[in-house]
Amino acid sequence: MASKVSCLYVLTVVCWASALWYLSITRPTSSYSGHRQFNTISIARKNVSFGNIRTRPINPHSFDFLINEPTKCEKSIPFLVILISTTHKEFDARQAIRETWGDENNFKGIKIATLFLLGKNSDPVLNQMVEQESQIFHDIIVEDFIDSYHNLTLKTLMGMRWVATFCSKAKYVMKTDSDIFVNMDNLIYKLLKPNTKPRRRYFTGYVINGGPIRDVRSKWYMPRDLYPDSNYPPFCSGTGYIFSADVAEMIYKTSLHTRLLHLEDVYVGLCLRKLGIHPFQNSGFNHWKMAYSLCRYRRVITVHQITPEEMHRIWNDMSSKKHLRLLVYRLQAPFIKAQKLKGARVKSKILYILLVRALEISS
Ligand SMILES: *[C@@H]1O[C@H](CO)[C@@H](O)[C@H](O)[C@H]1NC(C)=O
Ligand SMILES: *[C@@H]1O[C@H](CO)[C@@H](O)[C@H](O)[C@H]1NC(C)=O
Repeated sequence: MASKVSCLYVLTVVCWASALWYLSITRPTSSYSGHRQFNTISIARKNVSFGNIRTRPINPHSFDFLINEPTKCEKSIPFLVILISTTHKEFDARQAIRETWGDENNFKGIKIATLFLLGKNSDPVLNQMVEQESQIFHDIIVEDFIDSYHNLTLKTLMGMRWVATFCSKAKYVMKTDSDIFVNMDNLIYKLLKPNTKPRRRYFTGYVINGGPIRDVRSKWYMPRDLYPDSNYPPFCSGTGYIFSADVAEMIYKTSLHTRLLHLEDVYVGLCLRKLGIHPFQNSGFNHWKMAYSLCRYRRVITVHQITPEEMHRIWNDMSSKKHLRLLVYRLQAPFIKAQKLKGARVKSKILYILLVRALEISS
């Protein structure tokens, strides 16, 4: 069977090659103008035919936008585009994100663009509701693939395509899910640093070095015939990863020639390996749930499995205690200055924790 296929392939290539050769040779008998015309035609044919043979996409992503926001980046170029994978029914999760960390107006002078990613639902009522939601908030994009867990990779690729097509001048992109809390202060000021030169070919998140799970009951089951290797390339957990915007187009274009896998984050890892881009590990990205405490959440970038109610509660608590950090710093600064002993740092840390606790209780 295999030899038959390869025989056919060789034959096709030979046929095309001879046809092209035949078309491209000049004919001494033709007139000057005729000759030129003939040549341009043959060049045009060459491009078309060779393009088809060599670069026919195996994963063409030939979907159309049903809802699009093509002008979102026209007025000003975003520093950060946030792509949030969501499902139709998660109206309250989307609203919670809009009202908390995903609010595009949280930062003065730093433009954020938030977009929710969706496919097409089989229920026309849900599609209509999402359409109405989109008309109010203008932060949803939808392509006409069927929205399902197995199509999550298409959702991510839609996001990459959107950035590459409508927002390629943005500096950074984050891809995350609707049940993730993002500490935007840390993300923007500690990780991305708006005042520094934007990075290129940059990719970071919670890096996983793993292999396929062959247990059919697992959420992450990978059939052997789809992915025979025993290891995945390093990939960032789909719960939240960040990349420089130039990577969006690179991944999208690479995906056209990379066989589709339903595990979105693994698939992006495969594209990164093809591109020679290594994802950086960053301990601020939490792949798992983490009980809320102000101290803890101040150190992270993402936390997983947060309900819309928790999102509001966490956001309100952190926003109302923003002043605490400064206050605590002022209180402990003289203490650090006064003691230049070795134990001073440890002691000041204990003092810091005690102060935060005291202020948390009192406020
Ligand atoms: C075909 O390719 C050549 C060289 O790559 C280019 O100069 C020419 O404009 C192309 N023609 C068409 C019709 O795209
Ligand atoms: C994914 O979307 C494509 C295009 O709409 C569809 O043909 C396919 O059935 C979907 N896959 C799943 C598992 O829903």
